[in-house]
Amino acid sequence: MLALTTACNQPAKTENATSASTAAAAKPASTTVLDKKADWWKETVVYQLYPRSFQDSNGDGVGDLKGIISRLYYLKSIGVGTVWLNPIYASPNDDNGYDISDYRQIMPEFGTMADFDALLKGMHQRGIKLVMDLVVNHSSDEHAWFKSARASRTSPYRDYYYWWPAEKGTPPKRYSTFDVKKDAWQYDAPTKSYYLHIFSKKQPDLNWNNPKLRQEVHNIMRFWLDKGIDGFRMDAFQFVAKDPTFPPMPGLTEQNYANAYNHGPHLHDYLKEINQEVLSHYNVMSVAEGAGRNVTEAMLFVDPARKELDMTYHFEGVGVGSNSDTYKLTDLKRVFTKWDSAFAQKGWQAIDLGNHDQPRMVSKFGDDRPAFRAASAKLLNTFLLTMRGTPYCYNGDELGMTNSRFNGIADYRDVAARNAYALLKQQGGNEASFFHSLARFSRDNSRTPFQWDATANAGFTTGTPWLKVNPNYVAINRAAEEKDSSSVLNHFRHTMAVRQAHAVLVYGRYQLLDAANPYIYAYTRTQGTEKILVVLNFSSAPRSWSLPAGLKPIGKPWLNNYPTLKMDATLALQPWQAVLVKVQ
Ligand code: NOJ
Ligand code: CA
Repeated sequence: MLALTTACNQPAKTENATSASTAAAAKPASTTVLDKKADWWKETVVYQLYPRSFQDSNGDGVGDLKGIISRLYYLKSIGVGTVWLNPIYASPNDDNGYDISDYRQIMPEFGTMADFDALLKGMHQRGIKLVMDLVVNHSSDEHAWFKSARASRTSPYRDYYYWWPAEKGTPPKRYSTFDVKKDAWQYDAPTKSYYLHIFSKKQPDLNWNNPKLRQEVHNIMRFWLDKGIDGFRMDAFQFVAKDPTFPPMPGLTEQNYANAYNHGPHLHDYLKEINQEVLSHYNVMSVAEGAGRNVTEAMLFVDPARKELDMTYHFEGVGVGSNSDTYKLTDLKRVFTKWDSAFAQKGWQAIDLGNHDQPRMVSKFGDDRPAFRAASAKLLNTFLLTMRGTPYCYNGDELGMTNSRFNGIADYRDVAARNAYALLKQQGGNEASFFHSLARFSRDNSRTPFQWDATANAGFTTGTPWLKVNPNYVAINRAAEEKDSSSVLNHFRHTMAVRQAHAVLVYGRYQLLDAANPYIYAYTRTQGTEKILVVLNFSSAPRSWSLPAGLKPIGKPWLNNYPTLKMDATLALQPWQAVLVKVQ
């Protein structure tokens, strides 16, 4: 049984920004009734929270755990069931926490372990679960293991990493994602050897062939699970398995290396081991980033019979339109439909359109010009919350936050942007097109501080924010949206309540309609005799759409991001209009 709320056809009540007690009364209902279910993770909605940019509590310009604690009432008020927190562990922050120097410590900028315990308790008291990032393809080069390993060839930690002794000559070509020279081998003078780093040179790859390393990881997982967290999002896990002899890889190019590194030897053995040793002993969820290069490989991670992970998220959806200024809706429909069919009988997937590595979803898949921003953000949230799979909503998307404006490389903070610029400077290249692409796709677009209100720095900090606040915060912010019953935020709340009240939106069969239509994304969700029709006008012009023969709307729409809808045999849809109606 899903948590039922009576608010499904009404806009959710909003709460007073400062009153926790009003917050407790806010709709929709929490998902606490689901807690005991083994597959609660299918019915929850995940809210991805980027801690560095959520709320600063002490004026140093960096978001922190106390800041999140002060906003728990808000998380409760929007109805999220689970929070996925990006890494909060000790880190020199070469890659914003994805370079961990101590897996059992909290990054001092973010707070203390006592703050963490209070955060977890506060979430659980409100019926919100907490999923942490597990970043074990690599550690930081400042981790004690690596410091010891690089100091001597006989260090007990030497085999926690991959080394290529210089006397064997230059190591076989391997590409790196963030390296200035794109080279995944870094020469290290103290032991006259190269070490492997698929990401930046401050992110040396861990050697999963070593059973001791695997046990360390299991123990780290147990440490956090014993604290009571509710699962892990496993970072870059598709890359952990490697052939330690590093044979030459003919045909490896800068374009195909990520696929070539995917799915190395023993990957599934490592996952089965993790499941058996750790995960199966807790009622928690596990999700792998980018598991599998295609649907067949992805199924191997999440087929329940194989006892590996619970769900996966793929990159093909966010990959649509990633190399151009436009995208084709028919491509988006094809990709989401293909992945839905792959999991129609078994397995489970995440549904997402953005995260901290992607531009803002409204700027990419919607239209962020003032006339269309709100409608298109509401449409995209409707899509996320009405597809089959667990929705992953990235913080700020519930407000319709947009890509930002940066003035030159000095404004960017992301290691990927900075190192790509260094490479451009070395090799020479077209700066105008580089910055055009960065403006559209930089990861910093989605990492700007959360826009709480119209006061200085959007209410995120009283100091200087680590990354510039998007200047549009004066108009687009949580406080303004609370007051507006038709805001993106209130539409999000309402849509969330509708999803949580209707099992058909979680489990119902998905069927794409009118696949070739270049503007309309329409589908049904069906469970037993209940059938729901979702019609989304993915365009900035009015469009009409004829109801397929045999589909008859029953009653008023459950969701509509405009005040009215003209509906008879044909729907007259406004730009970016999104409608959900029961049909027979
Ligand atoms: C994927 C993470 O989402 C990204 O932010 C990070 O840079 C890489 N993995 C490396 O950990
Ligand atoms: Ca702070």
